[in-house]
This record gives sequence, structure tokens and C-alpha cells, in this order.
Amino acid sequence: MVTRQLPNLHEMFELMQFKKPELNAKKRRLESALTIWDLRTIAKRRTPKAAFDYTDGAAEGELSIARARQAFEDVEFHPGILRPAPTVDTSCEILGGPSALPFGIAPTGFTRLMQTEGEIAGAGAAGAAGIPFTLSTLGTTSIEDVKKANPHGRNWFQLYVMRDREISYGLTRRAAEAGFDTLFFTVDTPVAGARLRDKRNGFSIPPQLTLGTIVNAIPRPWWWIDFLTTPKLEFASLSSTGGTVGELLDAAMDPTISYDDLTVIRELWPGKIVIKGVQNVEDSKKLVELGVDGIVLSNHGGRQLDRAPIPFRLLPEVVREVGKDATVMIDTGIMNGADIVASIALGAKFTLIGRAYLYGLMAGGRAGVDRTIAILRSEIERTMKLLGVSSLAELQPRHVTQLTRLTPVGSAPARAPRTARPKASAAR
Ligand SMILES: Cc1cc2nc3c(=O)[nH]c(=O)nc-3n(C[C@H](O)[C@H](O)[C@H](O)COP(=O)(O)O)c2cc1C
Repeated sequence: MVTRQLPNLHEMFELMQFKKPELNAKKRRLESALTIWDLRTIAKRRTPKAAFDYTDGAAEGELSIARARQAFEDVEFHPGILRPAPTVDTSCEILGGPSALPFGIAPTGFTRLMQTEGEIAGAGAAGAAGIPFTLSTLGTTSIEDVKKANPHGRNWFQLYVMRDREISYGLTRRAAEAGFDTLFFTVDTPVAGARLRDKRNGFSIPPQLTLGTIVNAIPRPWWWIDFLTTPKLEFASLSSTGGTVGELLDAAMDPTISYDDLTVIRELWPGKIVIKGVQNVEDSKKLVELGVDGIVLSNHGGRQLDRAPIPFRLLPEVVREVGKDATVMIDTGIMNGADIVASIALGAKFTLIGRAYLYGLMAGGRAGVDRTIAILRSEIERTMKLLGVSSLAELQPRHVTQLTRLTPVGSAPARAPRTARPKASAAR
């Protein structure tokens, strides 16, 4: 039998603690986002379909991005017990300079399309958080304006070597003059991947006003007000505009780029040079022999060759082969700070975030990017504490295994990661 009594009013009042309502709608919106997926939901609600799909989408059947995210979800962590880590140090040294966190902002094209503050928001937020920001050749803010937005922080420049080489060389010189310290030469884009969502949406740059876009705009007035009342959306470094993204990329990209281009760029660029979009061990070795400072294992967030290798799966073997001689970094599929921790444990020196940053941008401009960084920071810190490590250097392959469903079978890449468990079944 339960003994009952009359409710005690004093105790009831103690339980009633009403929070002061947050009157700032943006703050309220962003604080309600606890994960990057939550930011994505807000971004989708606030951004016109064509712009959201351009950001969120990938190539062909979008298998690469789904697999990359699955590989991170299939991580199993192995914590050490009774190892106090009351505070954790998330800082690292990367490409000759500091970063407060083991990730930076990846280069993204057309960024002001997602939200009008674009690269200024990204560079400002990165500077405030003490992490590097990368400006794309297809950016919508100039090299000099990014420098102004992040005057004391680290700025990196991403280069596409275009048909008209002089344009690329000119940008390289300008980035060096503006004090950008590292050049990322992207090599996975000889032609544009087939972004089917863009084709289905009839997406073009600049966006066209069709009946469909107008209907879609009705619940998203702020994006349109921003778009129509701020400087024209255009490439800051290129003169060509007009057409679908694929057409624009195909006009600018050159399918004949080769190692010779790397030699020329190397001579032009005084700082560190990193090759972005490396997808196998052989290329990694060759690039390191050629003297590059770093490589990014990346399949461009699944936006180029669909079904390309999952960067996270390539990581252990590439680190084993070239990790002593070059800085190995990784991107594609990162949606959680734990993905970053797992990458560092398997030997990556650094990671880049693309969509995670853009979801924040679309959800709330600069404050939204701050929120992305804050979410990832707290996930990194919590994961490290729960693993019982207090610095990034303590993260080791033994902290991570992989469930087996995405284990490659067949000849390329030849070996399964050292940390993988014995294979129970073939890859799905
Ligand atoms: C909307 C968008 C635009 C991008 N534009 C570029 C670009 O101009 N240059 C480049 O090297 N990579 C570009 N990328 C690829 C990113 O730099 C990065 O490799 C990728 O986003 C990582 O995957 P994630 O989005 O899952 O983090 C772009 C990615 C997205 C989502």
C-alpha cells in the first residue's frame, strides 16, 4: 500500500521554476538546436528548396555521402576507465600554425546563396573560435574581404586550376599577398559531378524566379528579403555567371589538369600546399614524394564521383604509408564532434567541415556558424572525456573500431584498417 498525503504547497512552489522566455527569436531558434542534424532541420525550413538542395545534395544516387556518414555512425569507441580527464585540450598544431579545435571550415562555392552573410560569417566565426577558414575559388566574397573578416586568424585558399590558367595563377598570387598561409589544390573535379537535385529543381545561378520558386518563397520571406536587399550574388573571383551549377563548373574546370600543374602552382605559392580530394594510397605516396605538405582524403562530400571510396575507411592505411612525411587530413560526412575524434584517433591530423558549417549558416547566419562550432566543440570535449583522454595526442587507434557492414572487400584498397574487427560478413 502506498501512503498518501495532501500535496505540500511549499514543495510544489519549489518545483515550479519557470524559465525566463527568450525574446530573441534567432537565439531561441539556434539554442533549440542540439545537434548538427537539428541545424539542418532549421536550415531546410528557412532556405528555398533549390538553394537547400544544392547544399544538402550530392552526385548521382548520393551513395558516397550516405556511406561516409554510415562509416562514422559505425564507429565503436573504446574508453579507458578511471583515467581522470576533468579538462581536455582540443588544440593542435596544423600546417605550421595553431588551431583551437581539430577542425577547420572547408571551402564551399556560392556560399552567399545559402545565406547572404556567406563567407564573412564563416571567416568571422572561424576567427573567433581560433580555427582556420578556407575560401573557395568559387566563393562569393573576395580574398581581401575574407581577410578583413578574419584579420588575425588563419585563412586558407582553395584553388581550382581552370581552363584559363592565368585566372588561377592570379588568384594564387592575390591569396599569398593577402597573407593566406595555405593553399588547397582541389583535384577531384576534372568535370562537375551529376547533381541530380539541381537538375530536377531547374537550379541556376543566379536563381530564376519561376512560379515554383515564388510558391516555395512564401514561407521563407527572410531569405528573399536578404537576397533582394544585399549586394548582388556573384562569384567574387570569376567573371562567368549564368547557367546551372554543372554548366558553370564545366566551363571553369579543366579535365586535363595534371601533375605538371602541381609543379607550376608549387613555384607560385610561398606557403604550405595541400592536395584536396586524394582517394587512394598510391596517389598519396606519389604526392608526398613530390613534396606536398599535406593531403585531404576527401570525395568532395560525395558531390563528384558517386560510390568513390569512403575517406574514413582509407585513413588508417594512408596514415600508415605517408603519415610520417605529410599532414593527412580528412573530410566528407562529418556531422558530429565524435566523427572528428574518431578521425584523429585513426591518425588524421585535422578535419574539415563542409555542410555542417553551411547548415549553421542557413539556420542563422554568423550566429548559426557560431552554433555549429559550439555544438562540435562540446561533442569533441565530451567524447574525449568519456574516452578518458585529455589531449588530442592521447587519442590512439585502440580507441576506435568499426562495425563491419561497410568494410571494403576486393582488391582496392587492399588491406582492411588495422583497427577493424575480423570480418563477420561481406560488405552490404
Ligand atoms: C555546397 C558545397 C560547395 C562546395 N564547394 C567546394 C568548392 O568550391 N571547392 C572545393 O574544393 N570543395 C567544395 N566543396 C566540398 C567541401 O570542401 C568538402 O570537401 C565537403 O563539403 C566535405 O563533406 P561534408 O559536406 O560532408 O562535410 C563543396 C561542398 C558543398 C557542400
